[in-house]
Amino acid sequence: MKNFYLETFGCQMNVVDSEQIVDLVQQLGYVQVGSPEPADLIILNTCSIRARAERKVYGHLGRFKPLKQRRPGLIIAVCGCVAQQEGGRMLEKVPYLDVVCGTHNVHRLGDMLRQVEERRARCAEVAFLEADQRRRLFPERRPNAEVTRFVTVIQGCDNFCSYCVVPHVRGREVSRPAAEVLDEVQALAAQGVREITLIGQNVNSYGRKEGDEISFAALLKQVNAVEGLERIRFMTSHPKDLSDELVDCFGELDKLCKHIHLPVQAGGDAVLKAMRRGYTREQYLGRIVRLRRVCPDIRVTSDVIVGFPGETESDFEQTMDLLKEARFAEIYSFIYSARPGTSAADLTDETPKAVKQERFDRMLALQEEITLEYHRRDVGQVLPLLVEGSSRQGNGQLFGRTTWNRIVNFDGGRDLIGQIVPVRLVRAYRNSHLGELA
Ligand code: SAH
Ligand code: SF4
Ligand code: F3S
Repeated sequence: MKNFYLETFGCQMNVVDSEQIVDLVQQLGYVQVGSPEPADLIILNTCSIRARAERKVYGHLGRFKPLKQRRPGLIIAVCGCVAQQEGGRMLEKVPYLDVVCGTHNVHRLGDMLRQVEERRARCAEVAFLEADQRRRLFPERRPNAEVTRFVTVIQGCDNFCSYCVVPHVRGREVSRPAAEVLDEVQALAAQGVREITLIGQNVNSYGRKEGDEISFAALLKQVNAVEGLERIRFMTSHPKDLSDELVDCFGELDKLCKHIHLPVQAGGDAVLKAMRRGYTREQYLGRIVRLRRVCPDIRVTSDVIVGFPGETESDFEQTMDLLKEARFAEIYSFIYSARPGTSAADLTDETPKAVKQERFDRMLALQEEITLEYHRRDVGQVLPLLVEGSSRQGNGQLFGRTTWNRIVNFDGGRDLIGQIVPVRLVRAYRNSHLGELA
């Protein structure tokens, strides 16, 4: 028997690629294990969005070196965005690495691994494919009966925000044929999947290219009609592609959850422009107003970057101000990290690190107040919860999510898994609520 160990970093796109990787290596006869020590094959599916994410990959590989020395037959493979960025260079940098598999080459991983097994031939495949070919290669995974699943609808990114590595490591946008998306959703619903999240780096630019079939809003409407499915989410949305037609879906589609993740990145027009985001502060806030008009209790979450090159104190104040005005339920904030190959990497950045850190801390404190206010106010409410499984706290409780994507832990029988049940929120914690069946 052969064992494999897989570790996944980064975003939803890597999560789906990893599911495909699991299917591929299982077909080669490998069985998944939970730690690297007993593995005959170790795969890292990597992320290079910030410098720290990339460093982590090299740190992990270092840990595997003694394993390889002890067992020379061990195969080590790197997939994902660091593999794409580094390519064949990575084999030189890491002499005990066997396989480098790029983001367009996951379907080739099985052949590459066989080459290593049979001839110990180290290999790197990182060529980008043409759109036509990619359209036929959307990740295919075996359907299973988990409560929630991701379904990829679009890959790549055309936006080239000045700080971002994604277009460089994932290539241009390609939308998946609508019929294929619907087939997958139907197959999942038939297996018992209750909630699907339609995913893409820019999910709402689906269908916008010459030759594409239907808009993202039109696709959502078709998915909404799939029998057996209870809930729909999508991520990540770009504010500039959030059409009126799509906003209106939040008022029209009964299965669409009342939550949108809409990364703003910065609150002032000067920084937004330097980031090449393609919208102004006013346009962004206008989208939020319309979302709340169409769906008054929708919750919006966001991403924010602090310390973009040239960000002044007054630019930063505008971001703080926007947080107060937009009242996000949650934000994911990051200190700017210069990435190789991006246009912002050439900008001079004179803001001292300590100043960036201080701004970052101030922002976290402000958002913490806003987030807490939401959570406290929610205590006492009875809300429909889709029960997903055993609580990650390992205390025998179950967990589920509200329509706002908030995790609630509560006591209940395992027969509730996969059902939507009414739960009263009794206590608010930082990352979850405690609830009780109502
Ligand atoms: N496609 C999504 C985001 C993908 S990356 C979008 O357009 O919003 C996830 C988040 O990482 C981004 O929203 C951004 O806030 C952050 N990020 C991306 N590049 C970064 C960089 N160079 N430094 C710091 N944060 C970054
Ligand atoms: Fe990166 Fe911008 Fe594309 Fe999002 S839209 S993936 S931030 S380039
Ligand atoms: Fe990271 Fe690649 Fe996703 S860089 S955020 S894993 S697209």
